[in-house]
Amino acid sequence: MSITDAGCKVLRHELGVEAGLHGEGLAAALPGWLGAEVAGHVRAFDSAAVEAPPSSGTALTSGVILCPCSMGTLARVSVGFSSNLVERAADVALKEGRTLILVPREAPLSAIHLENMLRLARLGAVILPASPGFYHRPKTVEDLVHHVVGKVLDRLGLAHGVGARWKGLSPAAEDPGTGAAPPRDPLAGNGGAAIP
Ligand SMILES: Cc1cc2nc3c(=O)[nH]c(=O)nc-3n(C[C@H](O)[C@H](O)[C@H](O)COP(=O)(O)O)c2cc1C
Repeated sequence: MSITDAGCKVLRHELGVEAGLHGEGLAAALPGWLGAEVAGHVRAFDSAAVEAPPSSGTALTSGVILCPCSMGTLARVSVGFSSNLVERAADVALKEGRTLILVPREAPLSAIHLENMLRLARLGAVILPASPGFYHRPKTVEDLVHHVVGKVLDRLGLAHGVGARWKGLSPAAEDPGTGAAPPRDPLAGNGGAAIP
């Protein structure tokens, strides 16, 4: 795991996690952020550590995920400009033909953003915006996050139990003519829902 310098600021602002100016504090912050068990399986590298294993195609990885991915990082990756370890790891995934998943959360998108995304998609990268579904009737911010994380894990081919899978509408909800569907309060969450 690595983080850009701007990512350190975002992490501090949004989650209160202190990773230092250049990600040098990321390793120490992981147990408090992700829990000791998960942190024990993660290696952290600061943004300037371009000598770290992810910089080389010889270090085998099943894929690289940039999440969240700023428009600046996305632009640099789209033209092969690697100014830090995050961008280099993405560059390596592209050149080695490995899965590269970018999770932008920008809105709205300019023509520049869209052209950069199209260039990456044509190179085989997966553009997976942080656009959660609402058909599973999320109740918490965590439900929304899990929906996106589950999609990322699916693209990596990893088995997981994160997020809800769509199982179709219930027969009652598909037959509006019978009046059989129970009345629903759209704000009541899953309790009143005919959608699983
Ligand atoms: C709290 C916060 C949230 C941000 N969210 C985004 C974002 O979602 N997308 C984006 O492109 N930039 C976002 N930015 C701006 C980026 O930090 C800025 O574009 C930066 O230059 C990205 O640098 P990087 O590509 O090296 O990570 C955010 C900044 C802050 C402080």
